[in-house]
Amino acid sequence: MITFANGQTIGYDDVGSGTPVLFLHGFPHNRSLWSAQLGALAAPARTISMDLRGFGESGAGAHDGVDGYADDAAALLDVLGIERAVVAGLSMGGYATFAFWRRHRARIRALVLCDTRATPDSDAQRAARREMQALVVERGSMAVANQMITGMVGKTTRAKHPELADELHRMVSLAPLEGVLGALDALMTRPDSTPTLATIDVPTLIVVGDEDALTPVADARAMHLAIAGSRLEVIAGAGHVSNMERPATFNHVLSEFLVSLTAQ
Ligand code: MLT
Repeated sequence: MITFANGQTIGYDDVGSGTPVLFLHGFPHNRSLWSAQLGALAAPARTISMDLRGFGESGAGAHDGVDGYADDAAALLDVLGIERAVVAGLSMGGYATFAFWRRHRARIRALVLCDTRATPDSDAQRAARREMQALVVERGSMAVANQMITGMVGKTTRAKHPELADELHRMVSLAPLEGVLGALDALMTRPDSTPTLATIDVPTLIVVGDEDALTPVADARAMHLAIAGSRLEVIAGAGHVSNMERPATFNHVLSEFLVSLTAQ
């Protein structure tokens, strides 16, 4: 589906009824990253995925970094008539989730932080982002997909489910230039979210694949220690896109978390 909110077009899907869960994808994905979650949770849930600015069917608009992504997400909740949602972000979607918390915390029922981290880019990472911007301008998103795919999925997926790696490669290779350039700006300018962690006072689930090479288990443990009462789930045999690589386990863990919310 497509709507217009916060001054631009937003592509989204909205499936099921129950606790609203808004899913934010990583870099440089689109909302199809969450296909295995939409309408597939055992807990009663209204599952919503959206394309972040410049990806999928969402307009590129002016780029305001992770804050812009967060404001688009809040505007989508307005359009859908949802006051409070569980916000689930993977990697860059997690960075946007921290921004969402800082800017719209009254809209958040609970948080799910998937394969992400609170720390900002190092100087070396920023330099690599600028190199990737040059690469995508020169050779397109296919070159980005070629460069990223090995680190993005775990070794178990590469060995046992090469079709999933192919699906992700296709998704990345189709990412629009404007979206990729804007996201790389958002990634390298994102603030340090470490001080944000101590302010989080809603139920929080942290999920990470044990083979995640981009945001490893140590990053997840650090967030777990800093967010009071948070729950950490390490998914065996998954890399950086744990929801896509081990969907049954991921959905089980997320469903249990959602049920625990309704019991509170
Ligand atoms: C992502 O999956 O969103 C990216 O790997 C995040 C990053 O590069 O920091």
